[in-house]
Amino acid sequence: MGRWTLDKIPWDCFDRSKLDPEIVRIVKAAGLVEYNGGAYAHHLCRIFHDDPDFQENARHWGEEEIQHGKALGRWAELADPEFDFEAAFARFQAGYQVDFDCGISRRGTRAGEMVARCMVEVGTSSYYTALHDAAREPVLKEICRNIAADEIRHYKLFYNYLARCLERESLGFWGRLRVAARRIAESEDDELAYAYYAANETARPYGRRRCSRSYARRALALYRRHHVAHGVALIFKAVGLNPHGGLSHAASRFAWWLIRCRATRLAKAPA
Ligand SMILES: [Fe+2]
Ligand SMILES: [Fe+2]
Repeated sequence: MGRWTLDKIPWDCFDRSKLDPEIVRIVKAAGLVEYNGGAYAHHLCRIFHDDPDFQENARHWGEEEIQHGKALGRWAELADPEFDFEAAFARFQAGYQVDFDCGISRRGTRAGEMVARCMVEVGTSSYYTALHDAAREPVLKEICRNIAADEIRHYKLFYNYLARCLERESLGFWGRLRVAARRIAESEDDELAYAYYAANETARPYGRRRCSRSYARRALALYRRHHVAHGVALIFKAVGLNPHGGLSHAASRFAWWLIRCRATRLAKAPA
């Protein structure tokens, strides 16, 4: 299990007067995706079928992701007493289906799989840091502080295995960059959009574009320049570039500009 537990969260400090309903909606969705972590841990164990050391770490990682889901789900049920986390998770699992039993990485190599995992952990560590900074409700702040610390450890775990994989597989800079770019682009795919739908919008039929935009509009509003700079530095490190050089700073400025443009466009779009 993780270094913190649900019992360590100060649930008694929950303060309804500091809730932001927009944040409640995205926390519900994030909780569902996190709670599904065990399925991806199983997939990683299938990919690394002959590596018991990695499998042990992957199972531990999966347990920590599930704990993230439980903490966010319990908080969401406090924030919205009508929300049923387990029922929403059942809807999410029924509608979002991926072959987690497949033993072949869709990234082509184990090194590629590790680059993709690093990208996910970059995204989540930045996201929970931004959510921690934006939230006013004290219990959510504490949950996000714990989760963000876990996510950065997860990045380091997969980064270390990436280095090990690269001793046996050849995946050059361009290959790593391609996997990283694809995985970042996939953050717009069905997973978060469907989680947003399963948690918030069951009264009408699922629309991927609508739900993806609804989630992104609320999530992108949380970010500040330093969250993006930190994320870009971690991405640079994973693909083999200097995380603190001039190119990283230029990429960070560009990424921040892109995020601001998208956030502004989404804010003007109909809800
Ligand atoms: Fe997580
Ligand atoms: Fe993680």
